[in-house]
Amino acid sequence: MSSQFTPNNPLPQEAKVPQEIAVFSPEVEAEMDRHLAKYPVKRSAILPLMFIVQRERGGYLDPPGVAYLADRLGVRITDIWEVATFYSMINTEPVGKYHLQVCKTLSCKIMGAGRVTAKCTERLGIKPGQTTEDGMFSLSEVECLGSCGTAPMMQIGFDYYENLTDEKVDEIINKCQGGELSNGVR
Ligand code: FES
Repeated sequence: MSSQFTPNNPLPQEAKVPQEIAVFSPEVEAEMDRHLAKYPVKRSAILPLMFIVQRERGGYLDPPGVAYLADRLGVRITDIWEVATFYSMINTEPVGKYHLQVCKTLSCKIMGAGRVTAKCTERLGIKPGQTTEDGMFSLSEVECLGSCGTAPMMQIGFDYYENLTDEKVDEIINKCQGGELSNGVR
């Protein structure tokens, strides 16, 4: 007996299987091997490998990078997207060199996260979800980053900036613009 499947909740976007697969240098492959060696099950290394692919593919998981991860970890493309879209540290679209991720959850909200976002918007002329035309800055609002005791705070790459005030935000942005601050990607 056959049955027909009619999806009730189709994906909001077309799910495409990438044609191209990313290629990495022997050094990068070796770095991934070191992470894979830490886990008895390959797919457990999904996050460290994602960070590497993101770093190497210009700051986000492009379709060839996703295809590479699925192949290397022996999982489906869907499994990669499921993880990639859950974590705010993983970008599924291009972002600026400096990705300012302002925590918007309770402690930060109470302590002035809205002010921090507004200050970033005022300085950079972009709203959350946008990137400056020169590709230098992206701004996002994200859920709790686990640094509630030093609220309000934001993350740039892997680096945390805490107890933020208008003056501190100004200082951080000035340093980014002057090339004096790392973008926190490593
Ligand atoms: S609420 Fe902002 S770090 Fe937890």
